[in-house]
Amino acid sequence: MTEPRHFLDLWRLSPADLRAILDDAARRKAARAGWPKGRTDADAPADGRVLAMIFEKNSTRTRYSFDGAMRQLGGDSIIATAADMQLGRGETVEDTARVLSRMVDAVMIRANRHDDVERFARASSVPVINGLTDKSHPCQILADLLTIEERLGSVEGKTLAWVGDGNNVCASFIHAAPKFGFKLKIACPAAYHPDLYDLARANEQGGQVELMDDPRQAAAGAHAVITDTWVSMGDLDYEARMDAFETYQVDDALMALADPDAIFLHCLPAHRGEEVTDAVLDGPKSAVWDEAENRLHAQKAVLAWCFGAI
Ligand code: CP
Ligand code: NVA
Repeated sequence: MTEPRHFLDLWRLSPADLRAILDDAARRKAARAGWPKGRTDADAPADGRVLAMIFEKNSTRTRYSFDGAMRQLGGDSIIATAADMQLGRGETVEDTARVLSRMVDAVMIRANRHDDVERFARASSVPVINGLTDKSHPCQILADLLTIEERLGSVEGKTLAWVGDGNNVCASFIHAAPKFGFKLKIACPAAYHPDLYDLARANEQGGQVELMDDPRQAAAGAHAVITDTWVSMGDLDYEARMDAFETYQVDDALMALADPDAIFLHCLPAHRGEEVTDAVLDGPKSAVWDEAENRLHAQKAVLAWCFGAI
């Protein structure tokens, strides 16, 4: 039996596959401009297929984009929280994977522990998609790169600045850097740096990923300035984080140091007045609403790849 096409982390995929997914997302988006959102794409690559979604954490964008994506690809989806499932009463990840593999054609999971998604994938005979874990958020980064390319052209050779927490979203940017050939400058407080193993692997894969503590150094000349919440789902040290990140807010002064055409990105939800000011989030450099919409287009391409249609 051939291995299912799991979409677990960007570092595992080839640059060619990732490029093909991003191009498919852009093509699908252009092909349905002006269409009602419920209309099926002409090629309907998920026709007759069902996606199961399991959420251990809250979600707005991931939940609606994957559900909408399956409808636009001609398929269907079933959504449940882990708490509603027997998973919440102790049924193992592996047994759940074996059962769902008999009932659906792919599974998207948002999990507390990254290892649970890896375990699920090992026991699953259908593709498994990482919809965010404590370690990474690969689907988000495809939407972000799609947004950058729409605004600024190819991301290859561009410089992206990550300002704030070295968290799951930051990790997936690190994974993507060598695959797409962009330079990544990460400014974070020492206590909240990204996984150094991720950093080393990206640089071994030919990436240019630099770690620093000064947000101004990261933003200087960057083509995109990117941040995320200072307190992710599951983080318990709220007070310590508020103190550590105080000087990491993205404001107009920081954006002024970036390239004149630079854009601002945030995966959302945003905490206005914490990691970003209202003026930046709602200002002319902000591309966050396109970025949010692009979750839908990127998810469709990920699903099409998982189903072998790319
Ligand atoms: N950006 C993102 O993943 O949003 P949700 O948590 O709303 O899915
Ligand atoms: N880093 C955030 C991303 C939310 C989409 C979190 O994990 O809560």
